[in-house]
Amino acid sequence: MKFAFIIDPIQRLDPGHDTSVALMEAAQGLGHEIWLTQAGHLSVVQGKAYAMLQPVRLKPVELVEGRWIAAQDWYVLGDRQFLPLEEMQAVFMRTDPPVNVPYLYATYILDYVDSAKTLRVNSPAGLRAANEKMYALQFTDAIPETIVTQDKQVIREFVDRQGAAVMKPLGGKAGEGILFAEPGDRNLNSLIEISTQQFSYPIMVQAYLPAAKDGDKRIILLNGDPVGAVNRIPTGSDFRGNMAVGGRVAHVEITERDRQICDQLAATLRRDGLIFVGIDIIGGYLTEVNVTSPTGIREIDRLEGVRVGQIVMEWVENTLKGGIA
Ligand SMILES: Nc1ncnc2c1ncn2[C@@H]1O[C@H](COP(=O)(O)OP(=O)(O)O)[C@@H](O)[C@H]1O
Ligand SMILES: [Mg+2]
Repeated sequence: MKFAFIIDPIQRLDPGHDTSVALMEAAQGLGHEIWLTQAGHLSVVQGKAYAMLQPVRLKPVELVEGRWIAAQDWYVLGDRQFLPLEEMQAVFMRTDPPVNVPYLYATYILDYVDSAKTLRVNSPAGLRAANEKMYALQFTDAIPETIVTQDKQVIREFVDRQGAAVMKPLGGKAGEGILFAEPGDRNLNSLIEISTQQFSYPIMVQAYLPAAKDGDKRIILLNGDPVGAVNRIPTGSDFRGNMAVGGRVAHVEITERDRQICDQLAATLRRDGLIFVGIDIIGGYLTEVNVTSPTGIREIDRLEGVRVGQIVMEWVENTLKGGIA
């Protein structure tokens, strides 16, 4: 089968860390062709979505003494072709945030992929529906106390009431712009101004969870079911656990509470076509639902001796065999 991956330029990817590469390797390993494109290389012609696609061959990474080692020339690209995306059996939209206007326009183009011919992971409508921070708000039993606002008074009262909170930009990722807030901080007004960009953007303000020091658990969900998890533990003086800011990864169990949270999300994720998702859980509370380009597979595979990419691709194969749409 032919699978297209919409990614950032491949030379910017880290083969030993990026989940997109793990997914592509797994698909290639099962005998499928991998074609690459980018969000900015999509078109609609006569009502059909097209892409400027390049075939790619990957040299899979190898685990050496607990680390993924990639060859210098870990990918080889073929010639570009302008093809209708319906020639692909699956299209994986894996462009990194920010979810900006060009990103959203790419999802509108992906609406013109024939869903009877091609499986989209994730669905363009789902990608539009799910702001990674705000999607969690509907699962009120699973989340910590949380507000979304750009009103200074509302923020200050919330921070006063909680004693400690975190402020998050709604379009952030990888720990960017996550701020710790407490009532006595002389910088608090200034932090609110910076975070809301002078009161022009709503932000998320969430009760600070002390359990964050023990880690932020990433659970990968495949069509609503958990298929792997990894803990990210803050290091040094940073309170954030994200790998991108130095968080240390470690083995972690999927607990009964985690499974309850996954069960709460499953039907909604399936309804929204959010097939491949990474949720974040801190101290038993859901804090984020990552849908754009969730990561973690390389770390899970390395720590648990599994191959999550293969599980995903076998699910895709089975779904395609069963007939989509
Ligand atoms: N409610 C919270 N309490 C304590 N720490 C938090 C809380 N929410 C987030 N964090 C910390 O900030 C990091 C990033 O938060 P998150 O909401 O996952 O945003 P993103 O990963 O998109 O930047 C987490 O890994 C965690 O370490
Ligand atoms: Mg996160």
